[in-house]
Amino acid sequence: MTAASMSLPDRVRIHPAALSGMVQVSGDKSIGHRCLLIGALVEGEVAISGLAPSGDIAATASALRQLGVMVELAPEADGRLGGSVVGPLRGAPHDAEALSIDCGNSGTTLRLLAGLAAGAGRHVVLDGDASLRRRPVDRIIAPLAAMGVVAHAREDRLPPLEVVPSALKGVRWVSPVASAQVKSAIILAAVAGGVTAEIDSPLPSRDHTERMLRHAGVDIATHAGEGGREIVRVIPSRPATRALTAPRDPSAAAFWHVAAACGAGVVETPGLNLNPGRIGALEVLRAMGAEVTVRGVRESHGELVGDVEVAPGRLRGGEVGGELVVRCLDELPVLALAGAISEEGLNVRDAAELRVKESDRISVLGAMLRAIGIVIEERPDGFHVPGGQRPSAGRIDSRGDHRIAMTAAIAACLGNGPVEIMGFTAVGTSYPGFLTDLAALGGRAETLDG
Ligand code: S3P
Repeated sequence: MTAASMSLPDRVRIHPAALSGMVQVSGDKSIGHRCLLIGALVEGEVAISGLAPSGDIAATASALRQLGVMVELAPEADGRLGGSVVGPLRGAPHDAEALSIDCGNSGTTLRLLAGLAAGAGRHVVLDGDASLRRRPVDRIIAPLAAMGVVAHAREDRLPPLEVVPSALKGVRWVSPVASAQVKSAIILAAVAGGVTAEIDSPLPSRDHTERMLRHAGVDIATHAGEGGREIVRVIPSRPATRALTAPRDPSAAAFWHVAAACGAGVVETPGLNLNPGRIGALEVLRAMGAEVTVRGVRESHGELVGDVEVAPGRLRGGEVGGELVVRCLDELPVLALAGAISEEGLNVRDAAELRVKESDRISVLGAMLRAIGIVIEERPDGFHVPGGQRPSAGRIDSRGDHRIAMTAAIAACLGNGPVEIMGFTAVGTSYPGFLTDLAALGGRAETLDG
């Protein structure tokens, strides 16, 4: 258990409540990992700010420390973490023993670190908790093998993942999956190992790694391929920057945005990461009929940042498929609630990736929603939630998945009766301040831990 999750109760009861006001949500998880990992590639000290004090970020920081990179983080005035990373991450002597690294619950840590370690010629065995051990790593092994890297995994596809120091070569990789984690692992391997890479993906995915490295002077170009494909070319050089910062997390804010859209009240979330690959949920809510206002859009360290306000509207139905799925994949569980409360429901397809997240998010979401009286039809690559429904009182189990626990909490706020949530500590992996923000917006949570 991490320091972040220890401060959260494991059993809570959330009561129906209106929610309104302003919340400063936690630091962006995706960018936080990259601040640390890219910081480790820079020669000398890089100042880091805006990181969430979460379990996943702690996993990346501690992995880098094990690899000999100095990482110092402490709470800033606003509760987020700041400090410094002193790189560069160096190779190890030939006879060095393999380092066993525990990535906890964090798929991003494991997959991106596999690329970084491969590029730096480090011998590592990357492992994690029971949930991470069920998540595929063959999608990382295959491109790394094409780069000349020897990597082994349990049954060739599941953690623990061993990366053996190998001579690296340039790669052109046609990825079967639109995954920012796969793309980033290849980019980090190429930059750390000094080889070129071209990654051809079926659809664009979040491009934080590309933007941050480009901002630090690395030659990375992205262009559109045929049929909406995304092609990224990397000509490696050592990144150079003295500061990296994370804006606030739109995937954390999505919980409040859905609550607001469903009638809980008007919610403001300033300082959000507005990367086009991350705002699909806002587009879905707007298309369903919610009032979404974006103000003060500015650039920060190569990323777009802005203030988002969501107000209730007449929610019609929604459809999510194709390229939009990649831009709102992490938000689909909470968007399912908006579907239930809307007039015509929500239909989600092309989202089979949901099955290999922190849980099988189609079946775990289905079980959770049914436990609070919501009808949902599960499909191999998505789900359909009919409209005109309201959550009722009930008891649910997060099954160790932070986004399922937070979705249940929002369902309770919007529902007809209290919802008891077991396994709430999972929330600490991404959003340890969730209950504080819930209270600030007028929500009511009771701790049930004995
Ligand atoms: C992430 C990429 C996405 C996302 C995950 C974080 C990242 O996963 O679901 O929460 O930071 O690169 P995939 O790239 O595997 O789709």
